[in-house]
Amino acid sequence: LKKQPLDYQEALRDIAKSLVRLRRPERLLKMITRFLDKELGVEHAAILVLDPEKSRYTIFDSKGMRKLPRNLLRLDFDHPLVRWFQSFRRERNGRERNKELETLRSYVSRREIQSLLNKTSFLDARPELKKELVQVERALKDLRADVAIPGHFKEALVGILVLGEKLSHRLFTKTEIQFFQTLVHDAALAVKTSEVHQHLVERNVELEAKKGELEERLREIERLRKKEQETYYQIMKSLAQQVHAKDPYTFGHIRQVEKLGIMTGEELGLDLSGKRRDVLSAGLLLHDVGKIGIPDNILKKPGPLNPEEWKIMRTHVEKGAKILEPLSDFKEVAEIVLSHHEFYDGSGYPRGLKGNQIPIEARIVSVVDAFHAIVSNRCYREGRPVEVAFEELRRAAGTQFDPQVVEAFIRAMKKQLRRT
Ligand SMILES: [Fe+2]
Repeated sequence: LKKQPLDYQEALRDIAKSLVRLRRPERLLKMITRFLDKELGVEHAAILVLDPEKSRYTIFDSKGMRKLPRNLLRLDFDHPLVRWFQSFRRERNGRERNKELETLRSYVSRREIQSLLNKTSFLDARPELKKELVQVERALKDLRADVAIPGHFKEALVGILVLGEKLSHRLFTKTEIQFFQTLVHDAALAVKTSEVHQHLVERNVELEAKKGELEERLREIERLRKKEQETYYQIMKSLAQQVHAKDPYTFGHIRQVEKLGIMTGEELGLDLSGKRRDVLSAGLLLHDVGKIGIPDNILKKPGPLNPEEWKIMRTHVEKGAKILEPLSDFKEVAEIVLSHHEFYDGSGYPRGLKGNQIPIEARIVSVVDAFHAIVSNRCYREGRPVEVAFEELRRAAGTQFDPQVVEAFIRAMKKQLRRT
């Protein structure tokens, strides 16, 4: 059961990488204890972290076969180990210049303290220090610790890494201790950084809420969203115009289709104030936008389409609805686009809706679109007079078209013709 010696450089690199990725230090700390427990072969590994609200250090995570009881252990500020590590920075700048002692401040090893305590000559002259070391040694014993490494950030003791004895009972090597120190230093930095970050976020939110700036932000976001929708709508309209420009079947007069459709809606007595008008107008303008996805050889075919080509042609309704999906303010428009080839008697496509199941706007689009197709100059057929178109519409009223819409359209059209 001999463990491979650890490549500390590599382990350090891995952990440093995770450090950059993790914004929440909790996971990092858990990673460290898991890593040490698994790779090191120690009785246990624990991390104690400062709880600033309660002014004490509590176990954040503990792993291993002799792991510490999480809820029972807490180290107050007057705990010997805490006092020992907290005085480390202060004394380093002071007059005390004992190398052995200085090392003991950057980490403590229970067995090194024991051997120091045996050197009576040095400690006998310093009874206070001796007393302190005895207490630290006892504290380590209580924590089942062989070594403890402090994690400082500037002057503050952020946390402590506590390691139990190696299962082999060997001492930790200098390299290992240095590795732990780097690890703890980085972890302390991560904890501190995230605390500062969290604090800033909370403070920011608080301040903004106070000033009502948050509401202003939300309004701004809503404005941007509207603008984005408007831009998208404009792009769609120009797309639709392109479709009509390249489609000889419906030729260029998409604006006229819109105008006739609105007139029909008014003739039907629809309330076209506000949004309803925009929806109908957009439906009329965009109904064939999906033809952008139909191959030119089908779209521009001079003769009638064969069944296979019709099948492809018919997909333009779904394609159109799909294109309009991002336009969340115009959900009804997508519905119109999807339904403009439904027949009043239910024999249309794509869903076979009938009668009132088909949105009224789609029923209008259907009539206006058909009228336009009949009167327009087609490549393979001369355009026919308006009266002929009326007859054709009336013939299909009740099957393809809503009879009421056909009559309203013809009335509107006649009014229009009288005016011109
Ligand atoms: Fe269409």
